[in-house]
Formats: sequence, C-alpha cells, structure tokens
Amino acid sequence: MERGNFGSKIGAILASAGSAVGLGNIWRFPTECGSNGGAAFILIYLVCVFFLAMPVMVAEFVIGRSSRSNAVGSYRVLAPGKPWVVSGFMGVLAGFLVLSYYSVVAGWTLDYTYESLVGNLMSGADFGQYFADFVASPWRPVLFLSIFLLITHYVVATGVEKGIERYSKIMMPLLLLIILVLAVFSLTMPNAMEGIRFLLTPDFSKVTKDVVISAMGQAFFSLSVGMGTLATYASYFNKETKLLPSAIGVCTIDTMVAISAGFIIFPAVFSVGVSADSGPGLVFITLPYVFQEAFGTVPVLEYMFSGLFYVLLLLAALTSSISMHEISTAYIHETFKLSRPKAAAIVTAVCFLMGIACSLSFGLWKDVTVMGKGFFDLFDFITAKFLMPLGGLLICTFVGWDMNKRIVAQELNSRFTSLLMILFSWVAPIGIGIIFVYGLISG
Ligand code: PHE
Repeated sequence: MERGNFGSKIGAILASAGSAVGLGNIWRFPTECGSNGGAAFILIYLVCVFFLAMPVMVAEFVIGRSSRSNAVGSYRVLAPGKPWVVSGFMGVLAGFLVLSYYSVVAGWTLDYTYESLVGNLMSGADFGQYFADFVASPWRPVLFLSIFLLITHYVVATGVEKGIERYSKIMMPLLLLIILVLAVFSLTMPNAMEGIRFLLTPDFSKVTKDVVISAMGQAFFSLSVGMGTLATYASYFNKETKLLPSAIGVCTIDTMVAISAGFIIFPAVFSVGVSADSGPGLVFITLPYVFQEAFGTVPVLEYMFSGLFYVLLLLAALTSSISMHEISTAYIHETFKLSRPKAAAIVTAVCFLMGIACSLSFGLWKDVTVMGKGFFDLFDFITAKFLMPLGGLLICTFVGWDMNKRIVAQELNSRFTSLLMILFSWVAPIGIGIIFVYGLISG
C-alpha cells in the first residue's frame, strides 16, 4: 500500500508542533499553572519536559521513522512476536479516548469563537451563567462538537501531505502571529507586572508531590507523547529529517507557546483583579470578564481581542485533534486495508458517540459515573494519568533496551547518541516510573 509522506522537513516539524501545541498549552497549562502556584510549577514542568517527555518524543520518532508503520504496526515490524505491541494498542485506545473529550472542549471553543465573532460575548453578559448553561445543554455543545469533528475528519481524510501538512503549514504560522499580537496587548494592560511576577517568582513552599505529578501529566499531554501520535507522524518523515533537532524544535515551540499563553492570560487576569486559580473556567469564564473589563469602553478592541483569542484556541485545537485522529486512522487504514476516508469515517463515528457521552456528563448524565467520575473526567484520568505515562515508559524502555542498537544509532545520526541512550534506558523510565506510581497511589 502506498504510504503518505510529509513533503518537506519544515512541513514535518510544523505538523508535529501542530500536534503538540493545542488546548493543552493555552487552556490546560494556564489552569494548571494557576492552581499549582505559578513559577515553581513552571520550573518543575520544564524539568519534566526536557528530561522525561522529550526523550519519549525522540524515541517515538525513532520507532516511527525506522518502521514506517502506524502505532501498532511499528512494533510488529521492529519486534515481531514480542509483547511491546501492547503499547501500540494502548496508544490507539488513548487516541480514541483523548479525541472524544478533547473535541468537547474544542466544541466549546468553536461556540465561543462564533459568539465572539457575532458580538454576543460582549459586555453585560453573565459569563459564568452563560458557560454553566451552555455546557449543561443537551444539544448545543454536541452540535459544536460534531462540527469540530467533521472539520478534523475532512483534513485527515484528505491525506498526509495534501491534508495534514498543508493545513499545518497555514495554521501554525498564523497561530504564532496571533499569540504575539495578544501577548503585546496583554502586557501593555495596567498592572500587568503583577501577572509577570506571578509567572517569574517561584514559591517553593507550594510544591507538593501532587504538583510534580500534575507537571509530568501536563508535559506528556502538552507534547502529545506516550501514545504513538508522534511515532505515527514520524513514519511520514523523510530520511533527511534530523530527529533530535526536530524534537528539540517541537519542544521549544510548545514550551514557548505555553509560557506565552501564561503571559497573555495572567497579566490580563491580574490587571482586572480576578483570582489566578479559578480552574478550568479560567479561559471560558474569567477571560471574557477580562476582555470586558479591559476593553469595555472601546468595544472594537473587546471584540477583536476576544475574537482573536478564541480563533487562536480553535486553530491550536484543530492541529492537535488531527494528530489524535491520525493515530487510529493510520492503524485502521493499514491494518484492515480500508481506504483512508473509510478508516477516518470509522474513527470519526466512534469518537462522535463517545464525545456525546463526555458532553452529556456536564448536564443530563451528570450522575452517570464510572469509578466515581463522569465520562469526561474518566477519559481524561485514564489517558493523562495512566495510558500516556505508562505508554511513555514502555516506549523509552523499548528503544533503550530492546530495539536494535544499530538501527537506533542510524536513525538518530547524532553525536549525542550515547547521552540519549542514557536518557532512554535510565533517566526517563525511572523518573516516569516513580511519578507514575505516586500518581496511581494518590488517585
Ligand atoms: N498536545 C496536545 C495539546 O496540547 C494534546 C494531544 C495529546 C495531542 C495527545 C495528541 C495526542 O493540546
């Protein structure tokens, strides 16, 4: 079967960075950072990114490019008959689960984009009430969730180069530009310094083991590692793409975007005097107030700022959802020999049904719980706390201990190969293992 390929190195990096940069950076990072004490969280997060998550990313690149196969198929090529393939199946499962609940939040974003562009999210509204009513509605979020999934479906069904690469090349630069404009806006607001201080002055008394667990979960989620997403993308890399520099590039872009999101949100939040630890509502409830407070007297600015912000969030979500979709689509397409659009249709349909369950868990199905959690929280818990770290652990261990050393060295083609081998074999598995076990024990 003819396999897709990214046409260029820059396309490969932008698509991977597109996968990494998403709601995780702009919605989840500020939320986690705000509730875990600010600067100290950022420092621990950075350690997790560079010592734990980045090695997993490089390992995924090695697996994907050397096998030229999907998340499951790659283990069948590289380690036939060995149990590592379980980690591939875990990745496909995680792909379905993450995409289902991610599309719900992306659907909210789509609604907010629409509402701010038509001018409904403007001064005077009760944003807390608006959000509560909206997410609890049995049909509105489902409508937006399905539109979002259909857009994702379209890009994935169109193919690797014509779909994923082409749209990433348009959306990623646009996204970086919008971030820059918004950060300048935000930093010039009165009292912005308070927000900057919050981001730059670490308070280590706030650091508990939960903060460390959250920081690692955030690093894995944000970099899209541990479930074969980037292995799948790397299977479309050409031979000239350098794996380590690409991974460093993707991690740097992702981290810069997350921190910039902090620099957009916290100066604005402090400027209007709302609390930094207001949780998941930070972006959907607090920010509209911030826009109103900041620009209410100049409606054009309020309109522009909020419109731009939600468009940004939407673009970021889309390049990530495409990559989650691709894990399962590539698997089904290659394993069951279905055409790409047909494979994509199966993934879209399943995620649509599971997405409805996640969406309803905010309203109609609030009381339907499994292990004490509604579907949305359950899917988030299973993936971020269980499948992704465990997947990352297996991926590193496989490349560090079991994979053919010559192939690994050939793929890496770097003078840092021995250092990377230490990271794959020791540092990452032990670090991830310890935090993973703690996370499980503390629930
Ligand atoms: N990294 C994406 C984000 O930050 C989320 C994601 C997770 C994408 C797992 C793919 C796989 O939003």
